[in-house]
Amino acid sequence: MERQVKYREDDKLIDLINSNYSLLMVMSRFGLSLGFGDKSVKEVCQAQGVDCRTFLAVANFLSKEHHVKGECLPTDFALPALMDYLKRAHVYFLDFNLPALRRKLIETIDCSGSDEVATLILKFFDEYAKEVRRHMEYENRSVFTYVEQLLQGHRPSGYDIATFASKHSQVESKLTELKNIIIKYYPGKENNNLLNSVLFDIFNCEQDLATHCQVEDYMFVPAVEHLEQQLQQGFLRPDSKENSDKGDEPEALSQREKEIITCVVKGMTNKAIAEQLFLSIHTVITHRRNIARKLQIHSPAGLTIYAIVNKLVSLEEVKY
Ligand SMILES: [Fe+2]
Ligand SMILES: [Fe+2]
Repeated sequence: MERQVKYREDDKLIDLINSNYSLLMVMSRFGLSLGFGDKSVKEVCQAQGVDCRTFLAVANFLSKEHHVKGECLPTDFALPALMDYLKRAHVYFLDFNLPALRRKLIETIDCSGSDEVATLILKFFDEYAKEVRRHMEYENRSVFTYVEQLLQGHRPSGYDIATFASKHSQVESKLTELKNIIIKYYPGKENNNLLNSVLFDIFNCEQDLATHCQVEDYMFVPAVEHLEQQLQQGFLRPDSKENSDKGDEPEALSQREKEIITCVVKGMTNKAIAEQLFLSIHTVITHRRNIARKLQIHSPAGLTIYAIVNKLVSLEEVKY
């Protein structure tokens, strides 16, 4: 039975773009240039040497709101073409999008040092960008190299794609946190135009990173698993998909939690906090987990911004 797909190879490429402008990003990550006139997807891909099946598989994947494992068959696309697409996306995020976002952030908020919240926001962003770089460089260096060996028919020992999949984090979550910190805690100015523009860019980048991770989780990983199985002649591994935990209930912080935040932003370890507040380390860890859930802030840098804005500490006391 034929599965329902939104875009087909005989559709005009311009119609695809008009129905979903984020496909412009997909095009450039496949190396497709503009100026294609009224040509169909197939004609443009053929003329520019791009794997049409894989381009369409990604475009159709992105046209859906919800994804489930197995919705995309490994036979729907070519793994090398998908991997090239992911590599180009990494270059885009690391060398263009995040640096451009940083420049715009500096232009928008006062990072001269006189505005302490602005300085901390920039620091938060820099830590986040470093984290994204680590994430993507790991994929470039380890995962893609591993898959290239599989594609050549070699199965390196001591690694499999399930190991990667079980640890693969949603890299956009901290950006969500940064955006929410700016919206909730950055002091309002008379004119919000520039700030709104930065926020829109962060929303876009957040969405783009989220779909990038989904392509990896729902298309790339299953295709690599399929390849591994082919090489192993039927050997199967248990599914390693992880569910993320969520707690969206906004709850007030207890006095004890505020004390712990103060200690954290002063740079104290869990052990030092436990000793100062006469608690066990286990209790401190539980409090920290509850704080992260209540505030949806998971890093010391984010907590520092929260603590400064809410006057739990002064800037002189801050370690980060
Ligand atoms: Fe990636
Ligand atoms: Fe990733």
